[in-house]
This record gives sequence, C-alpha cells and structure tokens, in this order.
Amino acid sequence: MSDPVAGKRVLLGVSASIAAFKAVALASELVKTSAIVDVIMTPNATRFVAPLSFEAIVHRPVLTDLFDPQARSIAHVSLGTEADAYVIAPATADCIAGLALGLAHDALLATALSTRAPLFVAPAMETLMLEHPATQANLATLRSRGATVVEPESGRLASGRVGRGRMAEPAELIEALRIALGREGDLAGRRVIVTAGGTQEPIDPVRLISNRSSGKMGYAIANAARDRGASVTLITAPTSIPIPRGVDVRTVTTALDMQRAIHASLAGADVLIMAAAVSDYRVASPVDHKIKRDGEDLILRLIPNPDVIAGVKSETLVKVGFAAETDDLLINARRKLEAKGLDLIVANDVSAPGSGFGSDTNQVTFLDQAGSEVLPLMSKREVADRLLDRILSVLQQRDAGSADPSGPASP
Ligand code: CTP
Repeated sequence: MSDPVAGKRVLLGVSASIAAFKAVALASELVKTSAIVDVIMTPNATRFVAPLSFEAIVHRPVLTDLFDPQARSIAHVSLGTEADAYVIAPATADCIAGLALGLAHDALLATALSTRAPLFVAPAMETLMLEHPATQANLATLRSRGATVVEPESGRLASGRVGRGRMAEPAELIEALRIALGREGDLAGRRVIVTAGGTQEPIDPVRLISNRSSGKMGYAIANAARDRGASVTLITAPTSIPIPRGVDVRTVTTALDMQRAIHASLAGADVLIMAAAVSDYRVASPVDHKIKRDGEDLILRLIPNPDVIAGVKSETLVKVGFAAETDDLLINARRKLEAKGLDLIVANDVSAPGSGFGSDTNQVTFLDQAGSEVLPLMSKREVADRLLDRILSVLQQRDAGSADPSGPASP
C-alpha cells in the first residue's frame, strides 16, 4: 500500500473556530484515503458544526463529552492509545495554550495527554492572536515536543480583516500526515533524485524555447517516493504545480542548469529518475535585449545540449529514464535504454488518449534488460508507485549482491 494514511487510525480534534467547517471537509478527504477517522469536539466547537455532520461522514460516534456515560469506557484513553495520528484542526489560541500547558478539562485536551501518536496542529485565529507572543511561545513549545504545526494561511478572516490565520487547507494537512506516517516506508533510508517539467532555453529576455511537459509525472514520483520514506530531491523546471512539502526542491530553467543541479546532488544518491523533458537544443547566442519585429525572417541558430542522463556515470546509482514518443514507441525506448546506460526506461506514447502532456493519467510500458511490462491506463500517482516498486526491487537486488560474499568478485 503506497498511501501511508490508508488504513491508519486518525483522530481529528476539532476546537471552537469558524474553521470547524473545514474540518468536515478534512474528515471527508481522510475517509476517501481509507483512513479510519474518529472525531473529538470541544463543547464550544459543537456551536459551529453539529457532531452529526462528522458522524455522517466518518460513520463513527463523535466524542464531545469527557464524562459521557454512553461513550466507550474512558474513550479519551482508548481513542488516544489506538490512534496512529492526532490532528487538531482547527486549533484555537485557547486550545493551543491548553495543549502547551497539558490541560485536560475537555475530551480533546485529555486525549492529547493520553496519546503517544504524532500530533498535528492546524492553528486558526485572528492575526493579532496568532502573532501574540503567548501563542507563538505555545506553538514553539508544541514544536519542541515534536508536534507538526501546519502553518495557517493568509486571507480573509472571520473579522473581515485580511491577514495570516486561516486554517491550512485539508490537502495540506493530509500531505503533512503522509510525510510523517510514511517515514518508515519501504524507501526509508534511500536518497532519490527526481527531475520534472520542461526545461526552458532563452531566446531573449522575454522569449524562450520549451516543450509541453507539465511536470505532473515527475511531481507524482517525488510525492510518492517521499510518502514511502525516501529522502527526495526534486530538480524542477518551471511548472504551475505547487511545491510539495517534505521534499528538497531546486528550481532550474535551462538544460545546463538542470545538469549542474543533478551533479551537485549526486553524492549519496541511490536513484536518479529523469522525468524531465530536457530541451535537446539551446539558442547559440541568446541576446540580452528584446528582439524587435522588423518584418524580415528571423533565423535562430540552435546548438545541441548535452544528454544529461547519459552523462551521469555511476556503478551504484539506479538510473531511470522516460521516453515520450509518438512513433515506434518500444523500438525508440529500447534504443534509449541502451544508449543512455539506463537500468529502466518508462515508455509512453504521448499521442495516445489519456497519456498526453498535462494529463493526470498515463499508460506506460516499463523496459529493462530483462524485458518489458505493459501497464494499463492509470493515474500518474499509480504509475509513480508501480515505478518505485520496480526501482525498490533493483535496489534490493543490489543490496543482496553487495552483501553476498560469494557474489561477483571485482576484477
Ligand atoms: N534526456 C536527457 N538529456 C537530454 C535529453 C533527454 O537527460 N538532453 C533524458 C530525458 O529526461 C528522458 C530520456 O533522456 O529521461 C529520454 O528523453 P527523450 O526526450 O525521450 O529522448 P532524446 O534522447 O531527447 O531523444 P529524441 O528527442 O530524439 O527522442
């Protein structure tokens, strides 16, 4: 299972903020990822959102009363000990202060004391309250105890003012959970470099040569590797995709920039996955002023860029390339596998329905020295996980080879 949140028991603590309505959306997203969600509300939180709103989504009773005789025996203890993660969203200033002090006057706070699960806190409050030294000191206390504070965003607040204090979006909270819960995944201890996007070659300060790559495949791989515990460096050409959390991101522009960034990151890396669409040519002499239109033909001289992945020489690094083709898919892909010295290549026909640039799905074929595997059309995230499964087995074979004293002797 590649999603570290799936099947996990997530406790959702809801305190009394107008952002409690966002916690309903969060509960819904968590259920969609197959998490088992229990909700604890402070009594005042129920004035913003009814417990039934959560019960209808998580299909489990909501704990609101520390002394509820109907509740499971000492529910704040049993829920706490069973949980894999405790997410407090929204967390008001009062709730954060209670957590920092170790107060236990309601079920939300009492559970925070009785659980040893990782704690995630999503503050939601007016900017002045958030920035108050008392709140900041309380947040620092929580961080120093290992809690993850998922920072609030800027925007329009309940008071009508605009400022920092809006609770983080559910997607961001789930991403924070994935990072923490995936830390012990099957790629823990491995360093993975992923490239993404289409490199850009300048013509003049306002024009450039690039390609249609959206970067979605590379970002999906970076997120999936992170969620399986890898330490990930994402070297990305400019894209419109938000920067992922928990990944070391280097933004580059040209093919030569990307080459430099890869070589600077190689030490200690186990895997290089070259999902970027690298410009094969660059303008010989980009100019530093805007070229003016004069009605005459404009001739640009293009010179070849280096083949970046072919130039990475390493005995131990697992090298994975992509071959985006429109014709003779497998013949071209196998030629690239050999010519570039790759361990594995992912071939995809970019003219096929559902597999083009910018699409959220992909239909790919994996090719290596042993043969090929045709995968059905699936989401780019699923392709990413299938690819990482293949890479993991190459890494494990290498580990076994280097640990086996009867393995191939060096000449
Ligand atoms: N690649 C690279 N450096 C380049 C061009 C491509 O590292 N200058 C990498 C890509 O990131 C990809 C693989 O090589 O992983 C294949 O890229 P592709 O563009 O399909 O192949 P090219 O070698 O550029 O060949 P062609 O454009 O003729 O298909």
